[in-house]
Amino acid sequence: MKSLNLNINRRSFFKKFLYSLISLQFIYVIVRLLKPRTQILNLENYFDAGEISSFEKGKIYPFGTQKLYLHRLKDGGFLAVSSKCTHLGCTIGYNPQKKSFECPCHASAFNTNGEVMSPPATRPLDYYPIVFKDNHILIDINNPQRRSKFNQSQVKYI
Ligand code: FES
Repeated sequence: MKSLNLNINRRSFFKKFLYSLISLQFIYVIVRLLKPRTQILNLENYFDAGEISSFEKGKIYPFGTQKLYLHRLKDGGFLAVSSKCTHLGCTIGYNPQKKSFECPCHASAFNTNGEVMSPPATRPLDYYPIVFKDNHILIDINNPQRRSKFNQSQVKYI
């Protein structure tokens, strides 16, 4: 009789323990889902390029210290591309007459979206993720994105 009682108590304890674990996991998942995405991002490491309104549509803005160019497209979107040539890593320059990025080392050229126009480079310039916060453009300069071609998902819209 005594051992039966002990078994029931043990079983009851493990059942309660298991239910508690499941409940805690469920609460954890709900809290993670409800947490705003901006709190998950560590914005301290982002480069603040300035106020959104200070960038005219259809223009390219150099940020030499951060080794990138910020392109505000004619449709208002933003694309941040690296100034590091994808051939052997020289620093490219922007030629406003030709509307292209040009590499002084071996003459690779890229269009304003970073796509290769002239070899020897074979892949587009890397781009950086962008977020908007308090009307400012924040660029994730520690996270260059390698790509095989340009597509619209790389452009960030307000
Ligand atoms: S490093 Fe740019 S073309 Fe070679």
